[in-house]
Amino acid sequence: MTAPVLLSQIRGHGPLPKHIAIIMDGNGRWARERMLPRPMGHRQGMKAVREVVEGAIEAGVEVLSLFAFSQENWQRPATEIGALMSLLEEYIQREADELEAQGVRVQMLGDLDRLAPQARAAVDRVMAQTAKNSTLVLNLFISYGSRAEIVRAARRIAEEVAAGTLRPNQVDEAAISSRLFTAGGPDPDLLIRTSGERRISNFLLWQLAYTELHISPVLWPDFTRANLCEAILDYQTRDRRFGRVSV
Ligand code: IPE
Ligand code: IPE
Ligand code: MG
Repeated sequence: MTAPVLLSQIRGHGPLPKHIAIIMDGNGRWARERMLPRPMGHRQGMKAVREVVEGAIEAGVEVLSLFAFSQENWQRPATEIGALMSLLEEYIQREADELEAQGVRVQMLGDLDRLAPQARAAVDRVMAQTAKNSTLVLNLFISYGSRAEIVRAARRIAEEVAAGTLRPNQVDEAAISSRLFTAGGPDPDLLIRTSGERRISNFLLWQLAYTELHISPVLWPDFTRANLCEAILDYQTRDRRFGRVSV
């Protein structure tokens, strides 16, 4: 079915996920199927990013979190890392004005100190340029690992307790949440992983506690706004109980 038809189905179908997170996977396999080098898959994957940003705005989603590069991905060959970093800069260069016009607020989350200076500058620029927007918050996770994020929060808490600015009995769930990169934002309602893989791969371990999961067989470069709508329609059939009994 086409995206406009699916969008109209979403309207009457049930509550909308406020926050959608996506593990964008399958770029390498997409390239391999075409006997192309892996970076060509990543390049094509950029088009899918544009698709889902537009789809999320059309559907009325408030927060879109995209896992673009994990801390573990630093272990890939230097040529692939180089290609991914150049694509990040190119994406920002090409899309910043359009994102700004669409009212998208871009936030980059992760260990950004590991980025090359040029990529880091581009990241800082687009965050500053779009900081006042509010139609859609676009979280791009780069150089991100969830365990490292939790360790960082724990270390901060330990430092504050040692300094006497935080009491041990003030260390609760809110204290941890507020020291994560995602501080202040809602937890994801829906997590989509593309390419058929059924794992979390160190993404948002804390924040996904009660998130609904949708595994799509589609490789990321082929993912369209219609696929996003299908995931939302699937989400709308779920009974979210949060440990309680259904009413
Ligand atoms: C996802 O695609 C993009 C990144 C992890 C940067 P992959 O590069 O993991 O593609 P596959 O899983 O090898 O197909
Ligand atoms: C997860 O995909 C990270 C991103 C999509 C950025 P990977 O391809 O790196 O994960 P694994 O290795 O299959 O678990
Ligand atoms: Mg992969």
